[in-house]
Parts: sequence; structure tokens; C-alpha cells
Amino acid sequence: MPEQQLRMVHPDLEGLPEISVPDGYALRTYRSGDEAAWCEIMNTGIGTDWTAEKCRMELTETEPFMADGCFFATRSGQAVATACAYDVHPEGVSAAQVHMVCAKPAHRGRGLGRLVTLAVLRFMRERGYAAAFLGTDDFRVPAVRTYLGLGFVPDYVEDSHRLRWSAVFAKIGEQPA
Ligand SMILES: CC(C)(COP(=O)(O)OP(=O)(O)OC[C@H]1O[C@@H](n2cnc3c(N)ncnc32)[C@H](O)[C@@H]1OP(=O)(O)O)[C@@H](O)C(=O)NCCC(=O)NCCS
Repeated sequence: MPEQQLRMVHPDLEGLPEISVPDGYALRTYRSGDEAAWCEIMNTGIGTDWTAEKCRMELTETEPFMADGCFFATRSGQAVATACAYDVHPEGVSAAQVHMVCAKPAHRGRGLGRLVTLAVLRFMRERGYAAAFLGTDDFRVPAVRTYLGLGFVPDYVEDSHRLRWSAVFAKIGEQPA
């Protein structure tokens, strides 16, 4: 059986920092027809077989998708990073998922992951969600570091996750809170 993804939670969406868009970039929400550009981003970091049709079926035409909770960082009008809020409620709690965070390799190292994730968190707070959660993987060190910097903490959903998180923190060079 494949190992369950690591889980993180953001237990309090009050007091989020202000948005600061890096020089040369802009931030906008989803527009109809963005699927192809979204796939170009995803195929560099979260899978390799995204097509516009698959994106529609698995994301933009699904019930939990919220067009105004799906953000794109753009450069010269081209979408280069994205993240979205996904309206799923584990165990019925007032939380939503931060979903599909990715930046094109040429645009990494500039804080765009933080930008789009923060935009999603602020959207969730405006929509009245109390908390956020996400799934991630042990090898996604820049992503985990981004999430920790925004106030996410590990959610130890299985005993084995404590060990896995220790290894992740060792890679990052930090101790679990
Ligand atoms: C997640 C992602 C969007 C972050 O990109 P980014 O915003 O450019 O992030 P950065 O490369 O600046 O890295 C973020 C942080 O991790 C740190 N970092 C990066 N690589 C690291 C490494 N190998 N070891 C330790 N820290 C590392 C950076 O120094 C930075 O730290 P800071 O917040 O203290 O400045 C990007 O890495 C990506 O698209 N990855 C592939 C898709 C993915 O993994 N998505 C997450 C799915 S859950």
C-alpha cells in the first residue's frame, strides 16, 4: 500500500501577513481557459501527464473548485506559478485544502510559492474558513519550508509520520515545533 501523504494544518487564519508581490510579477485569479497554462506549470512539479482536459475533469470542473480561490502569479502576462483553495472538509471541520502549489523552475527561488499560498490562505479567511490543511510529500523540501514559514504545522495523522517528519526537519535544518 502506498504511504499516506504527509499532512499539514494551518490552525488559525487570523493575523496572516499582507501580500507582497515580487518585482516584475503580478497576481490574478483563474480565468476561463487557464487550464493549458495551469498544466504547463503542473507538468514541471506535480506529475507529468496533465492535459487541459484532465485539469478540467480533476480540478476546474469539480465541485470543490472555486475560481476566485485559484491564484496565478504571472510574468509578462504568462502564468508561472499557481495554487488554489479546494473546498473539501475533512471530518466536517471548517477548513479547506490548499491544493496544487507549483512554480515553473525558471521562476523558483523568488517567493512565488509563498505568494500564491498566502493568497489562497487570505481568500479562505475572507470566505470564513477557520483553518486550512494540505497534503505534501517528504521530498518537497522547498514547499514544506514555504508552508512552515506561513504558519502551517505538521499534522501527525499516523504514528509513522512522526519519524517521517523528523527526517524532513533534518533536511530543512530545523526542529519540529
Ligand atoms: C513549492 C514551490 C512552489 C516553492 O517554490 P519557491 O516559492 O520558489 O520556493 P523557494 O525555492 O524560494 O524555496 C522556499 C524556501 O525553501 C528553502 N529551500 C529550497 N530548497 C531547499 C533545500 N534543498 N533545503 C533546505 N531549504 C530549501 C528556500 O531557501 C526557501 O527558504 P525561505 O523561505 O527561508 O526563503 C516550488 O519548489 C515547486 O514548484 N516545487 C515543485 C512542486 C511542489 O513540490 N509543490 C508542492 C506540492 S505539496
